[in-house]
Amino acid sequence: MSKRYTITAALPYTNGPIHIGHLAGVYVPADIYARYKRLTGNDVAFICGSDEHGVPITIKAKKEGVSPQDIVDKYHEIIKKSFVDFGITFDNYSRTSAKIHHDTASEFFKTLYDKHEFIEEVTEQLYDEEANQFLADRFVTGTCPKCGNEEAYGDQCENCGSSLNATDLINPKSAITGNVPSLKETKHWFLPLNKYEDFLKEWILKGHKKDWKPNVYGQVKSWIDDGLRPRAVTRDLDWGIPVPVPGGEGKVLYVWFDAPIGYISATKEWAQNVGKDWEPYWKDKDTKLVHFIGKDNIVFHCIIFPAMLKAEGSYILPDNVPANEFLNLEGKKLSTSKNWAVWLPDYLEDFPNQQDVLRYSLTANAPESKDNDFTWKDFQARNNNELVAIFGNFINRVVVLTNKYYGGIIPEASEFSEVDNETLAAIKAYPSVIESSLERYRFREASQELMNLARLGNKYLADEEPWKLVKTDEVRTKTIMYVALQIASALATLCEPFLPFTSDKLKGILNTTDNSWADISTKNILIPAGHQIGKGELLFSKIEDKTIQEQLDKLEASKKANEAANKVLEPQKDIITFDDFTKLDMRVGTILEAEKMPKTKKLLVLKVDTGIDIRTIVSGIAESFTPEEVIGKQVTVLVNLAPRALRGVESEGMILMTETPEGKLVFVNPDTAVNSGLQIS
Ligand code: MF3
Ligand code: ZN
Repeated sequence: MSKRYTITAALPYTNGPIHIGHLAGVYVPADIYARYKRLTGNDVAFICGSDEHGVPITIKAKKEGVSPQDIVDKYHEIIKKSFVDFGITFDNYSRTSAKIHHDTASEFFKTLYDKHEFIEEVTEQLYDEEANQFLADRFVTGTCPKCGNEEAYGDQCENCGSSLNATDLINPKSAITGNVPSLKETKHWFLPLNKYEDFLKEWILKGHKKDWKPNVYGQVKSWIDDGLRPRAVTRDLDWGIPVPVPGGEGKVLYVWFDAPIGYISATKEWAQNVGKDWEPYWKDKDTKLVHFIGKDNIVFHCIIFPAMLKAEGSYILPDNVPANEFLNLEGKKLSTSKNWAVWLPDYLEDFPNQQDVLRYSLTANAPESKDNDFTWKDFQARNNNELVAIFGNFINRVVVLTNKYYGGIIPEASEFSEVDNETLAAIKAYPSVIESSLERYRFREASQELMNLARLGNKYLADEEPWKLVKTDEVRTKTIMYVALQIASALATLCEPFLPFTSDKLKGILNTTDNSWADISTKNILIPAGHQIGKGELLFSKIEDKTIQEQLDKLEASKKANEAANKVLEPQKDIITFDDFTKLDMRVGTILEAEKMPKTKKLLVLKVDTGIDIRTIVSGIAESFTPEEVIGKQVTVLVNLAPRALRGVESEGMILMTETPEGKLVFVNPDTAVNSGLQIS
């Protein structure tokens, strides 16, 4: 039965590109769900947009010396393009700086104001005297009163997920100046969440206990059990939507008040564009509203936004909030600031036209019930062992053989064997198998079921061996190929939500597009005898170890570069006297000979002409230089350092050098050739 669905995906903050964690946690599962709902004949509005207000954006703008608008304009385009590139089929990708959003959010606030749903109160808030600014949200960090995390933000602790008021933080510190904030009075509007406790208990704890994911339900329950408090929904900031009521001058709406309303304004904008009425998508009780988010957004989507919708009174509430846990990368937390991430634009540059490989590996390994790790090795294995060896291999054999034996025309089937009948029946069962996983938001499981259909095809061909039979039994061979083509055709339709680019390609190869999801379980013939298919084209290709190593090296290099950029220089050492200095005897030396110290990685044994003598110096530079590279080099030598034995070789002095951020050693040497032995002073 056709139903109306409003499917939302968390509006990304527009302060940077998006990475694989965003894709895995929110956008790929949301897209699979939206595509699946469309394919099964539902009326879908799949909604997203850029979240362009909020402190992270103003911080980024300050850092780069540009305006917040410049930042959001830049990243809105980049993010929007990534979604298109990866086949995320939003019906509308809007932005919260759009006029329609400002109007919708202002109106929403005014409605609540007029209904006396807010508490208007002057309270003391954290203030940075030096920056002349109130500190809320990400402008202030401190220790979380709930879990002790020392880097909690003014509105939320990312460690335990609690939502906080800035004044709850223990030892608060300004993120702008590092100063300890003072307290200053200011007026704000508060949403009394405590008033909604009973409603939330009834709606979630009683109503959704069974169908919500345990991680989501558990978190929400513990917050409600802890007791809810009024929460400020306005801020003393200049970037955001102005507070539209008397006394609101110079203040803006809290970003988490305006952003979820962005789902509504983006729906309105879409409806206007396509000539529809937006209201049923948000107000008709029969519409199913589903929010796809990451786990750090649970409190906002399960408590605050529903309380806002309830306070307004005319809206439906979410039917489900299938939040995912976090994806790690090679064992470490994904981090924008530490540049520990795989950014989508970079991926596409290195793996052009391989969006489905990433979609698939992220889905097969999605952080659905616990945090999970993305590794490049796993990515390679998913590609090589599943997409290439199972799915691609099956399709390739079917297409090549059909072309080879029958000039690409699907042969007539004769009598079906028992195996044929079982296989044809198995195909029909797949839609409901995959559906039952998708209906429970188990995308990993669903993707494996899809792969099982390709496995079934592979096994069928391997068992029936048409390539052998073709020499002795042409009639049977035709039947086998006919059955295999039915599987290929089912795959073309059923893989669409997961592997949309592959689905298009495969439909192109099979020269057909006309099956719906339901057809797979109801029609006896998915692709008819006599139909002409196209030539083969490889759907997937093997990823070599070298390619994977390059990605690992790239990650390591970007981490190092980032560390170097953020490196804290050692403080200056204690002052020494001039006499102390004159004790050092430094000379220009010329390296005459060099060889590796046997059985070591780092050491070179050098013969150095110091002008005074020719002496042996053992130096730890073998990882930066080959012996040949250093012979003839002029370097600075500390000649009166007490000799010391290294691996049994006496070293009589030290060569001065420094280390680049990439870890390469560089000599401190005279910039013109001079005589050995010259003193350095
Ligand atoms: N921008 C938020 C984040 O990236 C998500 C906003 S979701 C919305 O965490 F509901 F507010 F839109
Ligand atoms: Zn905490």
